[in-house]
Amino acid sequence: MVEVASASQADIDWLAREDASAGKAWVSRCVALGEYLIAKEGGEIVGFLRFSRFWGRVPYMEMIRVLPGYRRSGVGTALFFAWEAAMRGEGARLLMTSSECDESRPQDWHRRNGFTETGAVELPGLQSVPEVFFIKRIG
Ligand SMILES: CC(C)(COP(=O)(O)OP(=O)(O)OC[C@H]1O[C@@H](n2cnc3c(N)ncnc32)[C@H](O)[C@@H]1OP(=O)(O)O)[C@@H](O)C(=O)NCCC(=O)NCCS
Repeated sequence: MVEVASASQADIDWLAREDASAGKAWVSRCVALGEYLIAKEGGEIVGFLRFSRFWGRVPYMEMIRVLPGYRRSGVGTALFFAWEAAMRGEGARLLMTSSECDESRPQDWHRRNGFTETGAVELPGLQSVPEVFFIKRIG
């Protein structure tokens, strides 16, 4: 049985390890602002969702990751649905996410959750392929 909750201070070390590209300072900031959801099974964290807000107001899912041994058992979907419900509860009408253009598997997963592709942005010097953006209307 998977349980989804907002991450707390006690989860920072785990998140800094498993969401390493964010860096510990950013992890701490996101935890303090309630911008992390974690999924637990049997008391152990098995996945997380990190988000921010585009323009300070449009919820933007920056990263969702489930530990390899726990994939394809509904954990990612539980994290995403909990986030969508929380954002709807805040009055959001649109959700955003993005992915590197050659990452077809995450993109298929986003489409499965109701996202549609809305354009791509080149990021010279940061990434060798364009970043594709997805939106989902929830209003
Ligand atoms: C993408 C990810 C978060 C999905 O989480 P998950 O817990 O494995 O997914 P779920 O079990 O909730 O998947 C629900 C459905 O999507 C399907 N699915 C799972 N991963 C998929 C993928 N990569 N592509 C397409 N469909 C996928 C499953 O088959 C399942 O369908 P089913 O119930 O009909 O079998 C997870 O696989 C992951 O951490 N991947 C590596 C990191 C990553 O790519 N993150 C996304 C970009 S930031």
